[in-house]
Amino acid sequence: MGHSVPLPLIRVLATGGTIAGAQTDRERGYRAAAFSVDALIAAVPQLATLAQIEVEQVAAIGSQDMDDATWLRLAARTQAALDSPAVAGVVITHGTDTMEETAFFLNLVVRSEKPVVLVGAMRPATAISADGPMNLYNALAVAAHPATRGRGVLVVANDEIHFAREIAKTNTTQVGTFASGHRGLAGLVNAGRLHLYAPPVRRHTAASEFSPLAAAAAGAQRLPRVDIVYAHAGMGRELIDAAVKAGARGLVIAGMGDGNLGAVALAAAAEAAKAGVAVVRSSRAGGGVVERNIEVDDDALGFIAADELNPQKARVLLLLGLTRTGDPRALQDLFFAY
Ligand code: SIN
Repeated sequence: MGHSVPLPLIRVLATGGTIAGAQTDRERGYRAAAFSVDALIAAVPQLATLAQIEVEQVAAIGSQDMDDATWLRLAARTQAALDSPAVAGVVITHGTDTMEETAFFLNLVVRSEKPVVLVGAMRPATAISADGPMNLYNALAVAAHPATRGRGVLVVANDEIHFAREIAKTNTTQVGTFASGHRGLAGLVNAGRLHLYAPPVRRHTAASEFSPLAAAAAGAQRLPRVDIVYAHAGMGRELIDAAVKAGARGLVIAGMGDGNLGAVALAAAAEAAKAGVAVVRSSRAGGGVVERNIEVDDDALGFIAADELNPQKARVLLLLGLTRTGDPRALQDLFFAY
């Protein structure tokens, strides 16, 4: 009898979300983060054919409650797992609402070539045709596969593999909610069988200047305050002024179209930039590049263009950038690099 090769060791870090959710006795309601990660894993015995699994419950929250302190703790626990020579990769169970933000944050602050895979579900664990068990199986398969090393943080859902930078939640309830509009998917995963596409071109993980997270930031409970202001027809200046007054060091504008604001709000944003607040123009349009100096004179007003990042991703990059610099030109360079 030949020796069998031991299965790779994957550490599963649990944070809650609908994947761990249970329906309530209300006809259509459910409560996120009701089940422990052990219960989720026990419900999918086939996981044992893919990997040896060790689990750690980092949080038990709906991802709407994800905050700086939990991000920093999750980053530290992810890094600790990756630094363990025995661990081949990490799977993180997470709610889908802020999954893209957590994935992008980790993509910028974790230092390793080993795979880190976020996974969630749109239907709670007790629902008819729950999507969590197959998503978890596929996520384990992706994290256990050596070819997924060096591709940055990934998200697995609905038989698709997404890059942290590209993924966005695009639908309130459907299982096919995630899309990677700009640069496309990282690959497909069909009942644990991987089909990988081209690796990402922008900087991430081991090549990120934010990894490992600076000791001062890692030990903190808070990251620099960055607010998002959503633009609309008839917009005034009040919300921009309020963000500045509340102490925002950065502002992301979810601008109309190509990252635009009406004249009144634009004047408020320009005043904020002049006062030293980093102002990033992103778009509420859901896709497309916001370039510099097209309809707005970014050079004159001291603004930063978000390039391809949606407002919530632009916020993540900006708050990390602000841990290093407040210079709009240096911050702009980050938006072209990551
Ligand atoms: C959450 O983000 O925690 C709730 C929604 C979900 O997981 O799909």
